[in-house]
This record gives sequence, structure tokens and C-alpha cells, in this order.
Amino acid sequence: MVRIAVLVSGGGTNLQALIDAQARGEINNGQIAAVISSSPTAYALERAAKANIPGYVVNRRDYADNRAMTAALAQQLQELDIGLVVLAGFMYVLTEELVHAYPNAIINIHPALIPSFCGEGYYGLHVHERALEYGVKVSGATVHFVSEECDGGPIILQKAVAVNEDDTPATLQRRIMEQAEWVLLPQAVSLFCEGRLSVEGRIVHIR
Ligand code: GAR
Repeated sequence: MVRIAVLVSGGGTNLQALIDAQARGEINNGQIAAVISSSPTAYALERAAKANIPGYVVNRRDYADNRAMTAALAQQLQELDIGLVVLAGFMYVLTEELVHAYPNAIINIHPALIPSFCGEGYYGLHVHERALEYGVKVSGATVHFVSEECDGGPIILQKAVAVNEDDTPATLQRRIMEQAEWVLLPQAVSLFCEGRLSVEGRIVHIR
């Protein structure tokens, strides 16, 4: 059984999708063992508590920089014997120490079709603001392994979602969550835990 840690910073709807998938028996050979939040007030921590999953806080404000926070996170993950790290709306860029400790064992969900609308500064609603400003007719979500390059790791799953004429960043965000993120993230986590993902360069093979 792979012990999964879900890292969050905010509302935690993707965490909820994972909790619900686990309750339906759809996370094969995996168990959500910990939720770690970068903020003590994140609603995601309440979702974890309701599901009887231990919640932890690694507060960004307690550390001088992302590197120091990443080091604390890495130590916590090792102590908890975590085999898969899931970034589910985690709003900080982790430094390479964690990537080295968990090679191709950190999964991130990004609310756009990478390589569009991604990289530093592209998080949360900002992603959808930029997509609407650009005038794309299709956006979506990407689940990928985390590498040293921000949003640049091998892609596991992607799903396209239509952009509507009257979309606001909030309506587009919600549709992408409902139609893509909450579906893809549990699928990718289950595939990983079942040992069905292998990585060759940039390419992820699904067996
Ligand atoms: C989600 O849309 C997720 O894809 C995005 O933040 C939101 C978090 O929502 N992540 C990023 O932008 C990462 N670059 P949630 O807390 O309700 O899951």
C-alpha cells in the first residue's frame, strides 16, 4: 500500500476529490496518510479532519524562504514514510531537494493544458484570467510529475475543457475543476499506486 501525502494551501476541492475517490474504492493500492497545509487556516485541513486523515501544518511564514520550507517538508514526509506526494492546490514552488528525495513520485495538478499558461506566477485564478485574456477557446487541466522546472515535468494525464463566450475566471475555473481536475487527479494517483506509470525521458507510459 502506497502512503500518500496531499499538500494543500487553500480550499482543498482536489483533496476532497481524492478523499471521495478513496471512499468509493477507486484509489487502488494507495491510502491518503497525511494532509500537509502551508497555512494553518486552509479549509482543506477541515476536510482532512472530517475524513479522519491526520493534518499537519508547515507554515511558510515560519521559514525564511522556499528552500527552508521544502527541507522541513521533506523531513516530515520521510518521518511519515510517504511514498507519493500529491500537490493539490499547493501554492509554493518546492526546491530541488524534495524532487531529488522523491524522483517521479511527486504529482501536481495544474489548471491549464501545459505547456500553455504555466510556470512561475501561474496559479489559481490567475491561470484562468490569462487564458481568457489570451482568447483561447479550449483550456483544461494537466496532471504531471514534478521536476526541477516549474510545471515542466513529464505529463501523466490531460483533459481539454471548452471556454464559453461569457466565462469569467471563476466560471472557467469551476468548469475545469468539475470536468477535468476532480476526475484526472484521482485517476493519476491510482495509476501511480498500482505501479502502472513508467517514465522515459519526458514520456509517461501507462500500462
Ligand atoms: C486548483 O485549480 C489547482 O489546479 C490549482 O489551484 C486550485 C486549487 O484548488 N493549482 C495551481 O494553480 C498550481 N499551479 P483546491 O484547493 O480547491 O484544490
